[in-house]
Amino acid sequence: MIKNNFMKVYYEVFFYTMKKEEVYIVGAGTYGEVMYELAELLGYTIEGFYDENDQKKGKTVMNSKVLGRLSELEEHDIKGKKFVIAIGKNSTRNELMDKINKFGGETPTLIHPSAIISPSAEIGKGVYIHANAYIWTKVKIGNHCIISPKVIIAHHTSVGKACLISTMSAVGASVTIENEVFIGMGSTIMTGVSCIGGNTTIGAGSVVIKDVDDYSVYAGVPAKRLRSI
Ligand SMILES: CC(C)(COP(=O)(O)OP(=O)(O)OC[C@H]1O[C@@H](n2cnc3c(N)ncnc32)[C@H](O)[C@@H]1OP(=O)(O)O)[C@@H](O)C(=O)NCCC(=O)NCCS
Repeated sequence: MIKNNFMKVYYEVFFYTMKKEEVYIVGAGTYGEVMYELAELLGYTIEGFYDENDQKKGKTVMNSKVLGRLSELEEHDIKGKKFVIAIGKNSTRNELMDKINKFGGETPTLIHPSAIISPSAEIGKGVYIHANAYIWTKVKIGNHCIISPKVIIAHHTSVGKACLISTMSAVGASVTIENEVFIGMGSTIMTGVSCIGGNTTIGAGSVVIKDVDDYSVYAGVPAKRLRSI
């Protein structure tokens, strides 16, 4: 975890000086285009995309070329370079970031300038926080999470590693969200819920009013368990 005070100072200095740092984007799909815009806004130079689909190789996405597959890169190709993993699937993004970090590559945290982050919040590495998100007092966000636009995370809530919280969702206070949880768009996790079990999916528009199990799909108002994963 990086203490947010430090992050804030670093980020402000970085943004206002518009220091050009190079970054590669993994995933040349629609989310790759989103991350291209965010990285560019934060002053990065996008050196190219990697994508496992060979048919994309050589194509131009936004203003950068698809260079090939990330899986073809050796440790020495990754070491010292920065990568943005534009992949929504939590387990895939998590594995790739762990691999890049193991090989000495970096996975920078990118925070849109319109997001509001409490000075007492702690934000991990390789986290993407999109426009107008609001991260309240003493929230903890684990490594490799995606927090989409207009998400609100209330005070003292803890989000585990590699979660994705979709657009316009609201998470109440003092909730523990375990690792690799997916929360569909426009969902509410009520204050009073203590735990969202790891690897669980919450369907779009759901209202979660009590604790939910791990490795399960829940949906509806109030949210009910649909099935196991
Ligand atoms: C919950 C979800 C994962 C279920 O997908 P699924 O396993 O393919 O389920 P199905 O579409 O087969 O639906 C199963 C049942 O759940 C219901 N259901 C599905 N999603 C629901 C939702 N969000 N809210 C309420 N009920 C839902 C279906 O109506 C169906 O009910 P039935 O059995 O009575 O006909 C999916 O519908 C969903 O909401 N995904 C989130 C999408 C999202 O927010 N994406 C953001 C992208 S960043």
